[in-house]
Amino acid sequence: METPADPVGRIIDDLIGYLENLKEDGVTEIELSRELTERPMLMTSSPSDAQSPAGPVVPETRIPVAANDSAVNVKAALAGIASQIAVCTKCVLHKTRTKTVPGQGHSQPEILFVGEGPGADEDLQGLAFVGRAGQLLTRLIIRMGYRREDVFIANVVKCRPPDNRKPLPDEMEACLPFLKAQVAALKPKVIVTLGATALEGLIPAQGKIFITRLRGKWLTYENIPLMPTFHPSYLLRNPPAMWDVWNDMLEVLKLLGRTPPPKKSG
Ligand code: URA
Repeated sequence: METPADPVGRIIDDLIGYLENLKEDGVTEIELSRELTERPMLMTSSPSDAQSPAGPVVPETRIPVAANDSAVNVKAALAGIASQIAVCTKCVLHKTRTKTVPGQGHSQPEILFVGEGPGADEDLQGLAFVGRAGQLLTRLIIRMGYRREDVFIANVVKCRPPDNRKPLPDEMEACLPFLKAQVAALKPKVIVTLGATALEGLIPAQGKIFITRLRGKWLTYENIPLMPTFHPSYLLRNPPAMWDVWNDMLEVLKLLGRTPPPKKSG
């Protein structure tokens, strides 16, 4: 049974769930890197690390990387990242979260969608974009010719900011290593950032972001083409902006050599 005081139990539950999923997919063996077998715990913390004369010591985070690009290795790397997110206390958001929201989807996606941070529904379910904004995002993904499970959906911060406020710069900075590690493992062909905060969080050096000016213009992140567009929550308040988002998605599809499927009539 999971309790906040039992992070190891949660890691084990996550790992068991992940292995059960693999088994359902017909996988009977998994490859472990030498590093993993020699060092079973990914977090380098010990009770004696907890305090030092200079104050609490934040354990160094060793974020796992995929040993190679096989789906099994990428899934293992993603599960490792999710396990670290589950026990993260690097910013204040951990104090008010119900569940961490690492993000979910295909392990070798063409597209990685990046939002701002979990809302109330996501915080309860531990899944990214499952509320009203998520339903709109799902419709967009389907209209583009994908299923939700074909893409990966993540956020800049993995814990809900209270009252759905914008994540603070230090919260985004603390969380960014997780998203970076996810990008490195997933190797998406395209990243789509949803809203100004997602772009600001992923490319902090850009400073204040004017999404109305930047949307629809290709950028790159770690040599991956990045398309900034509006956040689905903005579209719920301002439906005509859907046309801009659709044009941005047509650019994404063009880059991927795809065309949207014909619109179903009726
Ligand atoms: N808004 C976001 O930015 N992310 C979510 O997961 C849900 C709503």
